Amino acid sequence: MTEGFGLAGRVALVTGGASGIGGGIAEILAEAGALVVIADIDEGRAVKAADALRAAGHQAGHVQLDVADEASVVRGFAAVVAAFGTPWALVNNAGLQDRQLLLDGTVAEWERVMGVNARGPFLTSREFARAVVAGGGGGRIVNIASMALQGALTQGHAIYASSKAALLGLTRASALELVGHGITVNIVLPGGVATPGAIAAQGPAAEGPGRRPPPMGMCTPRDIGVAVRFLVSPDAKMITNQTLAVDGGWSVS
Ligand SMILES: NC(=O)c1ccc[n+]([C@@H]2O[C@H](COP(=O)([O-])OP(=O)(O)OC[C@H]3O[C@@H](n4cnc5c(N)ncnc54)[C@H](O)[C@@H]3O)[C@@H](O)[C@H]2O)c1
Repeated sequence: MTEGFGLAGRVALVTGGASGIGGGIAEILAEAGALVVIADIDEGRAVKAADALRAAGHQAGHVQLDVADEASVVRGFAAVVAAFGTPWALVNNAGLQDRQLLLDGTVAEWERVMGVNARGPFLTSREFARAVVAGGGGGRIVNIASMALQGALTQGHAIYASSKAALLGLTRASALELVGHGITVNIVLPGGVATPGAIAAQGPAAEGPGRRPPPMGMCTPRDIGVAVRFLVSPDAKMITNQTLAVDGGWSVS
């Protein structure tokens, strides 16, 4: 008997779960039986997303937090543990995708993007791991990076690609440090997904070799959610420190 892929009785926290890819991940995990906590900086949209999951017959809650802000993350995780118990899974999905050419690069933009995309997952992974280690039951972390880490880039991704490379480093280091606590840490690389954040991204036109179309078409947020569901499942207990691309065949094009 395996433990299966179901998540009944388990709490899964999705950062940036109020929009786009995070919304698709939240739906898929809720459909697998998890109580999904939407952890987002936008409380109004987090409430709506959690309401929608409950209206569809699933279990859901929300917490307002800014992943880039240490006090906010510490407070948010304490609130989640108090309200829902020790979480089983953390999906580090919240991220900024704005572009800026290296020649125009500013430290302010570096700090802003790295704050959300790199410091954020560092802080949330730390608080999640502290809660899980205190609870003693093991768990799952999935980090959402980008195909910007592998293969072709588009113009304006110097800071963005750097932030996702930092997330890969965090994945490898936390997989090592948490393996003895039964916590797996893996990283998913989405290809192009037409989300509110991707469409509204600011900066120079996203031109360059990374613009070529994926042979199977664009991914949906739920396509990314399917990969995450596998990695957070109880049966994926022997899989850690791995990279899984979900890119509609972009890597073979
Ligand atoms: N859309 C794509 O094509 C694509 C491709 C590869 C990787 N990604 C990655 O997927 C993730 C989600 O992207 P998306 O396209 O769904 O974006 P999105 O902008 O549609 O959604 C991001 C969510 O994160 C929340 N958020 C932003 N800053 C936050 C903060 N400081 N604290 C907490 N929540 C915050 C937003 O409120 C929003 O709900 C990002 O990490 C992005 O880099 C996206």
